[in-house]
Amino acid sequence: MSQRKMLQFSTGALLFLLPWFGGPVLGEISDNFSQCLDFFYKKSPPTGINAAGYQPICQRYKNQYHFASLYHRQHRAPLFSAYILSSADGKRPNSTWMYEPQLAFSRASSEMKPFHTPMDNNVIESQAMLQDYKNSTYTKGHLNPSMHQKTKQNREATFTLTNIVPQKAGSNSGPWSILENEMLRKFKTYCNGSMYVITGAMPYTSEPRWINNRVSVPEYMWSAYCCPSYITNLPESVRLFFPTYAAVGRNDRNSGEEIVPINVKAKASVRGYDVRRMSLETLEGILAQRMAMPISLFHGKCQVEAF
Ligand SMILES: *[C@@H]1O[C@H](CO)[C@@H](O)[C@H](O)[C@H]1NC(C)=O
Ligand SMILES: *[C@@H]1O[C@H](CO)[C@@H](O)[C@H](O)[C@H]1NC(C)=O
Ligand SMILES: *[C@@H]1O[C@H](CO)[C@@H](O)[C@H](O)[C@H]1NC(C)=O
Ligand SMILES: *[C@@H]1O[C@H](CO)[C@@H](O)[C@H](O)[C@H]1NC(C)=O
Repeated sequence: MSQRKMLQFSTGALLFLLPWFGGPVLGEISDNFSQCLDFFYKKSPPTGINAAGYQPICQRYKNQYHFASLYHRQHRAPLFSAYILSSADGKRPNSTWMYEPQLAFSRASSEMKPFHTPMDNNVIESQAMLQDYKNSTYTKGHLNPSMHQKTKQNREATFTLTNIVPQKAGSNSGPWSILENEMLRKFKTYCNGSMYVITGAMPYTSEPRWINNRVSVPEYMWSAYCCPSYITNLPESVRLFFPTYAAVGRNDRNSGEEIVPINVKAKASVRGYDVRRMSLETLEGILAQRMAMPISLFHGKCQVEAF
């Protein structure tokens, strides 16, 4: 952050907060996921993430928590969203995009709110705006997709930009959406209990990319699930997928092939946006190397304790 920007920010924050001194505390201030641990397997958020720069968000909408995100303030984008997968009981909602007042003002409401005009400068500084995506060549890619959520309210709650990363259309409506459908199918067919999902973004390592000079573009998307209780008569052909499985998807058709190879026979609209399925361990190895963090996504690797 430049000095000028920092100054702008702190002055603005001060002006805004002044009328509140001594007033009621409106939102919950938290530097951790204590209000939404239920969305993590064994109530344990991933470990090994160097917390500096990241802001936990318990995604609250209409007076309820719906999922959790770890937000990177400088990137104005989430590192991951964590949720419990469910079959949707209806259609994809008409999207009303929302923002998070709590990112701009720690004492503001912790509920997401629909965008309005004009937006406060401190809010604009603190998170992505719809305008950031408008003239970009990227779609708004859900980490927690609305169709992995049961109720209409659950689904509406996924339309916060803090659950969104810039995603190429070829990935979003191509191989990545196939992966999302596949996860849903595996849940419905084989899970006998909860499926915990963590889906995230992997930024570029050498030359970061941005839309509108503000929002970080991921080079890859990644996702992993943990379904600790699955049906007892699991077919041999799908044993590999339980209790955990993972994937990494390309978000740049020009990236090298060292993480995800390209299927040159794919049709042109989706070519170069391949998704590679892999074990949880392989994904964690890639994350450790790429992000220089020994990330462990699920407590005890999602292994059910021996009896
Ligand atoms: C988490 O945040 C709450 C405030 O919401 C605080 O009371 C609690 O001590 C924090 N827990 C940890 C482990 O930091
Ligand atoms: C979305 O809006 C359109 C037109 O306003 C309406 O016809 C449609 O039923 C709505 N869909 C949902 C899922 O609410
Ligand atoms: C969007 O991009 C086009 C072409 O790059 C440019 O001419 C136009 O001014 C941009 N619009 C906005 C609102 O930034
Ligand atoms: C699902 O779990 C329940 C309770 O543990 C068990 O009784 C049932 O047999 C399981 N169903 C299948 C299909 O494995």
